[in-house]
Amino acid sequence: MASFSSSLKAFVALAFLMLFIGSSSAQLSPTFYSKSCPNLFTTVKSAVQSAISKEARMGASLLRLFFHDCFVNGCDGSILLDDTSSFIGEKRAAPNFNSVRGFDVIDNIKSAVEKACPGVVSCADVLAVTARDSVVILGGPNWNVKLGRRDARTASQGAANSSIPPPTSSLSALISSFSAVGLSTKDMVALSGSHTIGQARCTNFRARVYNETNIDSSFAQTRQGNCPRTVGSGDNNLAPLDLQTPTKFENNYYKNLVNRRGLLHSDQQLFNGGSTDSLVQTYSNNPGTFNSDFVAAMIKMGDISPLTGSNGEIRKNCRKTN
Ligand code: HEM
Ligand SMILES: *[C@@H]1O[C@H](CO)[C@@H](O)[C@H](O)[C@H]1NC(C)=O
Ligand SMILES: *[C@@H]1O[C@H](CO)[C@@H](O)[C@H](O)[C@H]1NC(C)=O
Repeated sequence: MASFSSSLKAFVALAFLMLFIGSSSAQLSPTFYSKSCPNLFTTVKSAVQSAISKEARMGASLLRLFFHDCFVNGCDGSILLDDTSSFIGEKRAAPNFNSVRGFDVIDNIKSAVEKACPGVVSCADVLAVTARDSVVILGGPNWNVKLGRRDARTASQGAANSSIPPPTSSLSALISSFSAVGLSTKDMVALSGSHTIGQARCTNFRARVYNETNIDSSFAQTRQGNCPRTVGSGDNNLAPLDLQTPTKFENNYYKNLVNRRGLLHSDQQLFNGGSTDSLVQTYSNNPGTFNSDFVAAMIKMGDISPLTGSNGEIRKNCRKTN
């Protein structure tokens, strides 16, 4: 009898343990590092602030890094890995090559975090906090970042090529690439508001400003001015994604779309007579609605397939596995 009841107790304890492990491994939390790295937030914020003070565009570049990390096998810091002899990294994938930037800034932030709390905070979480701080510093909304992600030990150039939508995407292609990672059409429209900051290269908007008809003609002319028609000429010339305030995070992106001043083909797809027109209209008139939907979508994006528990590792140097 005694042995029956003790084995029952052991069974119940084991069942609870499994439940606990099962749920905790899938869950991120804003307080994940409160004991192990209490200075995490102030450390990251001051490093992001100093990078943005040196170059205002850097806030945009850091936000984009988080997007390009999360869409490729989850938010696991894989985009930060350099090429090795056993894999080609994501830095040379089509959507990233000559385009994503800010790796040196992430290195600096990670060094500062390692100094404060050695071996504790993942590169994936550094990216998540850095993205939030960038938005806040440029005037956007604040939110509590969920943490507890661990870092991948490998990267996938092929997955980066196929999972990150190109700027030639149609509305339905945009909807399906977000849906493939569990994000809704509303999330897609709200997250695209990130294009209220930052720059794009001529190669990514040439066809739009020379060949498309759903574009304000004086806007098209202005953009043609620094983007030669001939492919291969001036490909890397930059233009702001938001023509008025490319270093200020607000809802101007949607006002531009309503005025047919989206810079990328994919941008204007969100307001082109289709199912997302009304949401674009709403965001263009209601900055508060945009902010709250953007925050909700950023948190959802940050939840994409994290490595937790004993999966992955806490990388020392974001460019290479331990
Ligand atoms: C909806 C699908 C999206 C497409 C097709 C797209 C495409 C692009 C392209 C082509 C550029 C310019 C890159 C270059 O010319 O080198 C760009 C820049 C940027 N994207 Fe997106 N993007 C999308 C969604 C997002 C999301 C969800 C975010 C963030 C949550 C984001 C953040 C940014 C930022 C901040 C920049 C400017 C980066 C800088 O100045 O360095 N984008 N995007
Ligand atoms: C990814 O795209 C790049 C650039 O277009 C290409 O060179 C590379 O072969 C592609 N890699 C894979 C694995 O698909
Ligand atoms: C514009 O469209 C024409 C006809 O399809 C094409 O030949 C040309 O290369 C396009 N130009 C640009 C800049 O995309």
